[in-house]
Amino acid sequence: MKLLVCGGAGFIGSNFARQRVVAHGDAVTVLDKLTYAGRKENLADLRDRPGFAFLRAGIEDADAVADAIADVDAVVNFAAETHVDRSIAEPDAFITTHAQGTFVLLEAARERGVRYVQVSTDEVYGSIERGSFTERSPLQPSSPYSATKAGADLLVASYHHTYGLESLICRGSNNYGPYQYPEKLIPLMILNALHGDPLPVYGDGRQVRNWIYVEDFARGIGHVLEHGEPGEAYNVGGPDEAINLDVVKRIIALTGASEDLISYVADRPGHDRRYSLGSGKVRALGWEAQVHFDEGLERTVAWYQDNRAWWEPIRSGDYRAYYERHYGTALAPERLD
Ligand code: NAD
Ligand code: TYD
Repeated sequence: MKLLVCGGAGFIGSNFARQRVVAHGDAVTVLDKLTYAGRKENLADLRDRPGFAFLRAGIEDADAVADAIADVDAVVNFAAETHVDRSIAEPDAFITTHAQGTFVLLEAARERGVRYVQVSTDEVYGSIERGSFTERSPLQPSSPYSATKAGADLLVASYHHTYGLESLICRGSNNYGPYQYPEKLIPLMILNALHGDPLPVYGDGRQVRNWIYVEDFARGIGHVLEHGEPGEAYNVGGPDEAINLDVVKRIIALTGASEDLISYVADRPGHDRRYSLGSGKVRALGWEAQVHFDEGLERTVAWYQDNRAWWEPIRSGDYRAYYERHYGTALAPERLD
């Protein structure tokens, strides 16, 4: 299969591109704007693979998208602004990418008549105290991030309903694993623990997330691409839920850091208490999560410990200024040992 993978230089998109090239022998073109979260380094091992190509452009750029989509069989769209805290501080780019960008991609897919998979999130359903969301749950997003993702989902669904586009939606729960930018809970806590920096826990730390190892989610997206029914949405949730504070304590144990590093900080405005996804529909298609949280977290900590060259340029660059602005404290200086 020949795939256009938009946003494929980010965390999940690069894991997906790797899986499709290595395990499926697909030809993959990655189109990515390379925002602060997108890095060509994430695709370094694919650069010389036959059929792999990289194009730097925004999904809102109709000319670039028209060129990139010209000879592909399907589009998988990961391109997004993805950090809730940034969406609260500066929502502008979330609107451009999720609304205008998704619209441009859908128009191009409609013109060419190619299958289209929108990568979405459990956050479009909002927070749930008990039980799990199904694909029939109402969309009740809380943040500018999740609201614009929900808007994109509705537009994608309308292109199937109105124009007959073979579009599908794949909603994942919280991902973790290699290549995740360290603004998100798990890589942030791992790197801070390794450096002896404070571990900033929002509010009471009792919020619950449903964790999925990134390779499981990437396989789920591939499964929906190949076996899903056009016009349908599929939840792809992880096998385990965990309270934030427990996640932080497990990371402390795996890194050998001290629990004294835990620092309770002001809560995120509008913070969703719990996410939980029911994935029966995609399981009925033949997909299963393979990696439990204990094992995946161990692998993830080991990856960050072994891949200093990947995170050092991030942690010593603009990220420091973001961190100081957001948390009001400076990170420890990088040690050059
Ligand atoms: P990420 O922030 O690591 O990567 C996003 C990528 O999109 C980056 O490479 C960035 O350069 C690119 N991008 C941003 N705006 C663009 C634009 N206008 N045009 C082209 N490229 C652009 O994010 P991620 O965690 O890999 O998330 C990928 C997708 O999965 C997103 O759609 C996100 O909503 C969804 N998702 C993420 C999670 C999670 O826990 N990380 C969970 C469920 C769903
Ligand atoms: P995050 O990784 O930002 O994902 P999301 O908000 O999309 O679920 O955050 C996961 C959880 O961790 C969320 O409840 C917020 C919390 N959190 C902290 O307590 N401290 C932090 O520094 C960060 C980044 C997140």
